[in-house]
Amino acid sequence: MTQGETVPAAALNWPTMPKPRAGWRLPPNLEDYESTCRTFTWAAARDELPGLPGGGLNIAHEAVDRHAKGDRANRVAIRWRGRRGERRDITYGQLRDETSRFANVLTSLGVGRGDAVFTLAGRIPELYIAALGTLKNGSVFCPMFSAFGPEPVLQRMSIGHAKVLVTTPVLYQRKVAAIRDQMPELRLVILTGEPPAGCDPATTFNLATLMAEASTDFAIVPTNGEDLALLHFTSGTTGKPKGAMHVHEAVVAHHATGRFALDFHDSDIFWCTADPGWITGTSYGIISPLTHGLTMVVDEADFDAVRWYRVLEEERVTIWYTAPTAVRMLMKAGAEMAKGFDLSALRFVGSVGEPLNPEGVVWGQEAFGLPIHDNWWQTETGGIMIANFPSMEIRPGSMGRPLPGIRAAIVRREGDSVVELMAGEEGELALLKGWPSMFRGYLGEEERYRKCFVGDWYLTGDLARVDEDGYYWFVGRADDVIKSAGHLIGPFEVESAVMEHPAVAEVGVIGKPDPVAGEIVKAFVSLKSGFEPSEALRLEILGFARQRLGTAVAPKEIAFADSLPRTRSGKIMRRLLKARELGLPEGDLSTLEGPA
Ligand code: WT7
Repeated sequence: MTQGETVPAAALNWPTMPKPRAGWRLPPNLEDYESTCRTFTWAAARDELPGLPGGGLNIAHEAVDRHAKGDRANRVAIRWRGRRGERRDITYGQLRDETSRFANVLTSLGVGRGDAVFTLAGRIPELYIAALGTLKNGSVFCPMFSAFGPEPVLQRMSIGHAKVLVTTPVLYQRKVAAIRDQMPELRLVILTGEPPAGCDPATTFNLATLMAEASTDFAIVPTNGEDLALLHFTSGTTGKPKGAMHVHEAVVAHHATGRFALDFHDSDIFWCTADPGWITGTSYGIISPLTHGLTMVVDEADFDAVRWYRVLEEERVTIWYTAPTAVRMLMKAGAEMAKGFDLSALRFVGSVGEPLNPEGVVWGQEAFGLPIHDNWWQTETGGIMIANFPSMEIRPGSMGRPLPGIRAAIVRREGDSVVELMAGEEGELALLKGWPSMFRGYLGEEERYRKCFVGDWYLTGDLARVDEDGYYWFVGRADDVIKSAGHLIGPFEVESAVMEHPAVAEVGVIGKPDPVAGEIVKAFVSLKSGFEPSEALRLEILGFARQRLGTAVAPKEIAFADSLPRTRSGKIMRRLLKARELGLPEGDLSTLEGPA
């Protein structure tokens, strides 16, 4: 089926059919799903990218330099909208020059191949320049979310052996200055402004000064496909955050998936609302649109319904990639609000990161005349794996079907092997390994990496079902990680920080269902003897956690309990805390220690 044709509205219960629009006449890149899946190979996808002139592969060459010649040099690559209404357009030609300057800055400071360059910044132009300049230099780009507090920052930079940090003076003072001497490997801090008084000028620099002195000529370091390019942190149920390692070869998947799942065409204006501190904001908020030579919109500000509609209208955005929490917030503002804006340029809306309710899919139809296309992937997969393609019938509530080149299955682990389950049966979502953007390891944690695989299957940790027609349906997580506003949060990281409060004896953290954010972080706390539960103490612990963890990770709710349920081996039973919170049956309590 093509976009111009109708979908069986009755089956989907959609109130109206898509309105024909100019952009809709573009033939979808993935016209015939079955035959493309049959003929697609990753080797052929690799051949679509030119690679470095002397051989080798570098993400920044594919994203920037190869477009910076000829006609495309003057095309806008990044259309930046500042928090306070500022505007800045960066063409491909300018982006090549600025990223080359940044690569020269790194080289001149002795930062080289394989060195980790971390960023802690909002969505400012310098962040994008640092990301791509780092890749040109053969160094490894490690973005952190600007709403992380000092504790998550310290954890990630220590695990990642950060050599360089690029941040703003404000974030530096708030989050880094006090922990800097706990990171002996951190050699340089580059600030997007004047360093605060007292900083050592030999190790703390003003980016603008360095850039002004740097040349715009830089020969991209000839990386190979298997050289490390990106380090993205993600969370598990236990232990520290995991640094998922991605290589330059990943760009082959970033490019192909942008073409198939997001339907990138040469004329598109694309807006990915995700922050590069989370992998969506790097794979699709930087790399994929640029490898396609598109104009991508970056809005520095956080969500605001009116502001977002204005961005869509004023920038004539054609493809929009966002998240279910944002869709639910827009739903709250009402479809009428959307109709007050001219969104006629928009032709495709995608969503990722957490379950998109069927109501959200259908609401898109009502508000924009376009259904919302859910897709699925993870930090570990590096790119979109399962999607509702533009040419496919959407089944609201389903994540869609696997991309060409991706073989998915629902499996059950049985010892050293997996058993593939039948359509309709619930099990773990697994992917056959071997796609280019698959993570190559968790930095320094070989064992944790190996445990993700059984034979040739990568096990995702998600529970799902597949229907007779090959559509995948999300069921839940197999572990205790929390998804809040699309961001993955490790309960252990939160528990460790809350434990440090002097009044806290034990803590267990769960995701409490929330109608907008999907889940919110809730902590159950028991107090040491000598402390009594009170509203003042509750607020104090909340503030303490927020100070250490930052607003992105800290609990939103704290409840006191006399004691927390533990297994006989001493682990806090988060599942039981959750079941009690939800008023659900408590399940198998045979491992519970003492009376519950
Ligand atoms: C986890 C991965 C998506 C890349 C950025 C987030 C959940 C993701 C969906 C979806 C239901 C989804 C899964 C997955 N998730 N997409 N369409 N429907 N759940 O990457 O932070 O590593 O999170 O997000 O649980 O495993 P991440």
